[in-house]
Amino acid sequence: MSLDLTIADLKEKARRRVPKMFFDYADSGALTESTYAANEADFGKIKLRQRVLVDMTGRSLASTMIGEKVSMPVALAPTGSTGMQHADGEILAAQAAQEFGVPFTLSTMSICSLEAVAEATTKPFWFQLYVMRDRDFVYNLIDRAKAAKCSALVLTLDLQILAQRHKDLRNGLSAPPKFTPSSIWQLASRPGWCMKMAGTKHRTFGNIVGHAKGVGDLSSLASWTNEQFDPKLSWNDVEWIKERWGGKLILKGILDKDDAVMATKTGADAIIVSNHGGRQLDGAPSSISVLEEIADAVGDKIEVHMDGGIRSGQDVLRALCLGAKGVYIGRPFLYGLGANGKAGVTKALEIIRKELDTTLALCGRRDIGEVGKDMLHR
Ligand SMILES: Cc1cc2nc3c(=O)[nH]c(=O)nc-3n(C[C@H](O)[C@H](O)[C@H](O)COP(=O)(O)O)c2cc1C
Repeated sequence: MSLDLTIADLKEKARRRVPKMFFDYADSGALTESTYAANEADFGKIKLRQRVLVDMTGRSLASTMIGEKVSMPVALAPTGSTGMQHADGEILAAQAAQEFGVPFTLSTMSICSLEAVAEATTKPFWFQLYVMRDRDFVYNLIDRAKAAKCSALVLTLDLQILAQRHKDLRNGLSAPPKFTPSSIWQLASRPGWCMKMAGTKHRTFGNIVGHAKGVGDLSSLASWTNEQFDPKLSWNDVEWIKERWGGKLILKGILDKDDAVMATKTGADAIIVSNHGGRQLDGAPSSISVLEEIADAVGDKIEVHMDGGIRSGQDVLRALCLGAKGVYIGRPFLYGLGANGKAGVTKALEIIRKELDTTLALCGRRDIGEVGKDMLHR
C-alpha cells in the first residue's frame, strides 16, 4: 500500500480507479491548457520568508468565509459531474467537508440533486448557479436551493459559453455517455468504479432531469444543456438573482480588476478570483498572478476569495498572504474522491491542513488571521 502524502499521490490513485473519460474531464483545461498549467506553476514562484525563534505553540487555522466559521479557510469548489468520479460523489464530498468544518459547494451540473445532498447532510452547504435561458427553471432552482437551506449562492460568471476541451472531444465525453467500443473498454477496465455505480440511483444530472421542461429522461438532456447556457447574461441579471435569492451571494469567475470593481457595486458578499480552473479562456493569466492587484483594487468593499491551481497547504498560505480571505479547491478533492471516495476527500483536506499548519509555523506565525504580504520574499 502506497502512502498518500500529497495531492499528486491522490491524483495518481484516481487515474488508476476512475474511467479515463471522467478522469480526463477533471484533469483538463481549455485549448492548449496553458492557463491550467500556469495556475499551478505560478504558485511555485512565490517564495516564503523563513522566520526563527518565534513561539509556535497554540496555532490556529480557524477563520471565517462570508461570516461562516470554517476550521480552515478552504472550501470545496463546485464541480460538475462529480458523481461520475465516484458513485454518489457529491453526497460523499459534502459529508467529508461537513465533518471537516469547511464549506461544500454543489454545482448546478451535479449528479446528486440539491435535495439528495440536503437529505444526506445536517449542516447548510453552498449552491452554485448557472443561469439558463429557461428562466422558469432558474427561478425554480433558486427556490429549491432555498428550500434545501443552502447558506450561500455562488453565481458563476465565466461560463456563458463553453470553451473547447480537446480531451473531452477525443474521449467522446458527452451527457449522456455514448457507448462506443472505446468507452465500453474504459468502463470495463475499472470494475470497482462500475460496481459502485451500479449500486446507486444517482447517474444523471439530478438538478435538471425531471425539473426542466422537455427533460424527462436522459436522451433529451445533451441537447438541452448545449442550448441552455445563457450567452446574454449581464451585470443587470445579478440584481434579480440577488433579490430572488435573498441570502449571501458570491460572484465566481472574476479575473480582471475592472470587473472586480463592478462586482463591488452589486451588493454581493464576496468574489472568487477564478479562471474556472483554466477550463474557459485559455491564455488568461493564472488566478494567483492577478489576485493581489484585484484585492488591492477592491480594498475592503467586498470579501475576496480565489481558486485555481491550489495543490498544497503552502499554496493556500500564499493566496491568503496576497489578499484572499479564503480559497477553494476543485481537482484536489476530485482526485481524493476518485482515489478513495469520502475517505479520499477527507485525506485531501488533511494533507492540505497539515501542510498549511506547518508552513504557517515555519513562517513564524500562529494565527491564520494574521498573515500578509510581509511573509513573502519580494
Ligand atoms: C471537473 C470540473 C468541473 C467543474 N465544474 C464547474 C461547475 O459546474 N461550476 C463552476 O462554477 N465551476 C466548475 N469548475 C471550476 C471549479 O469550480 C474551480 O473554479 C476550479 O476547479 C479551481 O481550480 P482547481 O481545480 O485547480 O482547484 C469545474 C472544475 C473542474 C475541474
